[in-house]
Amino acid sequence: MLNSLFCRAAWRPSRAAKTALGLALLSSSALGQQVNQSLSIGDLSSGYNREMFWLALWAIVISIIIFVGVSWALFYTVQKFREDKNDAAPAQFHGNNRLEVTLVAVPVVIVIVLALLTVRAMARLNPTPAGAYPVTAVAAQFYWNFEYPNVKVDAAAGTGLVTNGNEMIVPSKTKIAVTATSRDVIHGFWVPNLGGQRDAIPSVKKTWQIDNDKAGVYQGNCTVLCGASHANMRFKVIALPEAEYQQFVSAAQAYKAPVAAAGTAAAAGYTIFMQGKGGAGACAACHRVQGTAAAGQSGPDLSFFGSRRTLGAGVWEGADVDTHLHQWIKASSSIKPGSVMPHYDGSTQGYPTLTDQELTDLEAYLKTLQLPDEGNYWMKISALVPDAPVPAAQNPTPSSVNAITSASTAMNGGK
Ligand code: CUA
Repeated sequence: MLNSLFCRAAWRPSRAAKTALGLALLSSSALGQQVNQSLSIGDLSSGYNREMFWLALWAIVISIIIFVGVSWALFYTVQKFREDKNDAAPAQFHGNNRLEVTLVAVPVVIVIVLALLTVRAMARLNPTPAGAYPVTAVAAQFYWNFEYPNVKVDAAAGTGLVTNGNEMIVPSKTKIAVTATSRDVIHGFWVPNLGGQRDAIPSVKKTWQIDNDKAGVYQGNCTVLCGASHANMRFKVIALPEAEYQQFVSAAQAYKAPVAAAGTAAAAGYTIFMQGKGGAGACAACHRVQGTAAAGQSGPDLSFFGSRRTLGAGVWEGADVDTHLHQWIKASSSIKPGSVMPHYDGSTQGYPTLTDQELTDLEAYLKTLQLPDEGNYWMKISALVPDAPVPAAQNPTPSSVNAITSASTAMNGGK
């Protein structure tokens, strides 16, 4: 009976589930070449990490004292009352009140001390200081949009807030009040070098502080299993000194997406971006581009796409962006498992099939979406911090490379 119950209850993964699991495991290791990133909660240039370091140090010191004390008592007792040293049976007694009270009181005091230290750390870290700089991190399957509540787009350039997808730009040496939320399922926001992890929950807004004394590039990851590409939901934080950060802000506020000259590939790409093909599949329905009519909210913001150095929420960086962009637009989930962007190869109902030329035109348009040099945060950080892990810039002209199609087809079992 029990046996049959067991058999019935046993999970037999379907082929599809196995493939999905395999892809998810594969995706965390095989996708994307990343420039060397040091992920560390031991980065003590973050005030958050310093607080946690001291808390952990206290707990470790107290634990070592307890370990040494208990070990000493154990060895002392074993040694003193060894049978070969004691002919007579040891004295029997019970009810030593002083010993019993001590054995209860000491652990209680230890727990109280650790609790007080923990509450003190929480009280220091959880409220955000009045002057903290606000950034909203909006998570979705499988990307991030970073909005700046204090940074409105100039009236001459467009409407709304300055927003960037998957690359978060912040001032260094400043407390950042991050508000995390989600558009779909629960995600997790974590940049180990800057501070603690928080869940990004639909219709909930959680605010806390992160900070770092050093300008630099910091790797962030989603920390809550949120679907097939959970491991591919990455982002980068670029912390610029205050003056450089303000230059980025001014350039971003005034940014108006460039208008491509008539007759160019970028102009053809712009038309597809805004209108789709045959009246269907406009990119603008899901993506926003500052300074244009594209105001879609269900995909990552593409306003500064040409200046970005990551693709697919940080799965690809540098030259890999150029290598994968074509296939990414064509059929994103073929190279990033679970990606919800519709395919443009005829396999998503209601969406047009784009020719290679049309995809190249779209790429050409996307690559024109560049901040002016004075606002280009990657150029700034690589000049300021030469050893920062900065990916190479995108190639300004689209590559029609499509060599990975066969590999991705194989990954999907020939489908
Ligand atoms: Cu989003 Cu895991």
